[in-house]
Amino acid sequence: MKTDRTVKLKNGIEIPIIGLGVFKSPQGEDTINAVKWALEAGYRSIDTAMIYGNEESVGEGIRLSKVNREDIFLCSKVWNTDIREGRVREAFEESLERLQTDYLDSYLLHWPVAGYIGAWKQMEQLYREGRVRVIGVCNCKIPHLEALLAQAEISPMINQIENHPYLVQKPLTSYCRERQIACEAWSPLGGTGGNLLEDLTIQELGKKYHRSPAQIIIRWNIQRNVIVIPKSIHKARIEQNIDVFDFELTAEDMEQIDALDRELRVGPDPDAMIEKWK
Ligand code: A2P
Repeated sequence: MKTDRTVKLKNGIEIPIIGLGVFKSPQGEDTINAVKWALEAGYRSIDTAMIYGNEESVGEGIRLSKVNREDIFLCSKVWNTDIREGRVREAFEESLERLQTDYLDSYLLHWPVAGYIGAWKQMEQLYREGRVRVIGVCNCKIPHLEALLAQAEISPMINQIENHPYLVQKPLTSYCRERQIACEAWSPLGGTGGNLLEDLTIQELGKKYHRSPAQIIIRWNIQRNVIVIPKSIHKARIEQNIDVFDFELTAEDMEQIDALDRELRVGPDPDAMIEKWK
């Protein structure tokens, strides 16, 4: 199975179009196994964050797999406290320590909370020093990006956002595309506890293509060139979620999925997060 499709970022670095997400994947056996199974199944990208509390287990899963560190695209994120306090460098070193590695492939600001533009300057510094191959942001709406781009010397290469068929975010993804900022979809399956996988249109498409609802949604992301990081701690699902490179949704079916948009968030609205972290 060919699983090595990538998206080329603004600085020429390629990121796998699919990665394993580990938000809500508990530290310990669950995350260690999920990471190991994913790497064995052909994933070459793992997306974690300090606040997920599982960086040690991600590192352990990588070590237990037989895949070389250099062949893995490893991402972590700076939490709000560290953004606000201007502790980007310290937070970065702490993440490296927990992950047992000496560089990151990408490092992202987790939310555009107070202090994020100052924090970006520290991200630029880490990037210039070659400690991290790609820097980016998460959860930025257009005004947050506008404010950042007005001050940045290095433009973010990624914006990781909540993105799924109930929250398609067309204006934001177009804005990013025009500026060569790649979009990465979190909660692509509608998140833990969501009901997107029970959606009737998605279910019908699953029957049509003889695929699971999760595979239909992952494929939709791949065809619109959005990086996707589905989370699972179950081996069969982890394997199923990357088995999406041997079928293609028609243009009409892509549009049918786009039309499911209802601007429904399963996670916090970035503006509410900014308010909370004032
Ligand atoms: P689990 O980890 O128990 O497999 P998202 O990526 O949108 O955050 O969604 C993840 C949720 O979807 C998790 O609750 C995960 O549960 C579940 N999930 C992941 N892959 C599949 C799949 N192929 N089929 C059904 N549920 C899935």
